[in-house]
Amino acid sequence: MLEALQPKVALILADKEIDTTEKLQAICDLLQENVAYYDWVGFYFKNGDKDELKLGPYAGAPTDHTIIPFGKGICGQVAVSNQNFVVPDVQAQDNYIACSITVKAEIVVPLFVNGKNIGQIDIDSNTADPFSEADERFLEYINAKVAEIL
Ligand code: SME
Repeated sequence: MLEALQPKVALILADKEIDTTEKLQAICDLLQENVAYYDWVGFYFKNGDKDELKLGPYAGAPTDHTIIPFGKGICGQVAVSNQNFVVPDVQAQDNYIACSITVKAEIVVPLFVNGKNIGQIDIDSNTADPFSEADERFLEYINAKVAEIL
């Protein structure tokens, strides 16, 4: 099911009629609408020279957390670790920033351009423990394709 979305992601990224922001928005919408357990999908990017993340395009409920300092929350930890972070139960995490009380699980996968961690894709789920290695591989694929147009 995730693999079936890969060609659609590639088509969005190849679309000459829309700009980069619109492409990222279309990817967020595609994922949030087509994967039942992806309830919030967004991109965060390093905010200029600052050691903080800034929210980019997203699909799902608006969040107050448009700026996240490096090291804070799941997202801020991934900005520093350069590693995927799969959280099956957000309540078990000390260093976690709650966006909505409905969220039970989260996955964050870093986005590398020329080997540099410049941002991430962040998925929140209202389902407990929904993420597998298939999600990690799928989100790594998306970030690698997105990196080609950044
Ligand atoms: N839960 C994240 C904050 C971002 S929201 O999920 C949109 C975190 O702990 O970094």
